[in-house]
Amino acid sequence: MSMTYVIGSECVDVMDKSCVQECPADCIYEGLRSLYINPVECVDCGACRIACRVDAIYYETDLPDSELAHLQDNAAFFAEVLPGRAAALGEPGGAATLGAVGVDTPLIAAMPARNIPAH
Ligand code: F3S
Ligand code: F3S
Repeated sequence: MSMTYVIGSECVDVMDKSCVQECPADCIYEGLRSLYINPVECVDCGACRIACRVDAIYYETDLPDSELAHLQDNAAFFAEVLPGRAAALGEPGGAATLGAVGVDTPLIAAMPARNIPAH
């Protein structure tokens, strides 16, 4: 299985999207309260991790224990049928074309609202 970068809990309710601008694979997709990296489409370049001002992005082997759930959860955003949708997203082939999905995984949706730091 190939390796991937992962968006963790610090993205929730922040959604800075600087990562999206830097991603050469256009594989960072927008939910409602967080973004998610498609682990199949990610080419492991790491540009997104450097771009994120709240340090929400990790290489999968560098995830702290408190963020480990997001490895499976980023993958689940694509592999599982999201609430209100008829089919799994799979590998859409580009976040810009797909646009905001407008829904989150159950893990993210259940997170308490976070105060958004000022820009
Ligand atoms: Fe989120 Fe950071 Fe990207 S806050 S949208 S992971 S730049
Ligand atoms: Fe894109 Fe980050 Fe992967 S920039 S290709 S999601 S390592």
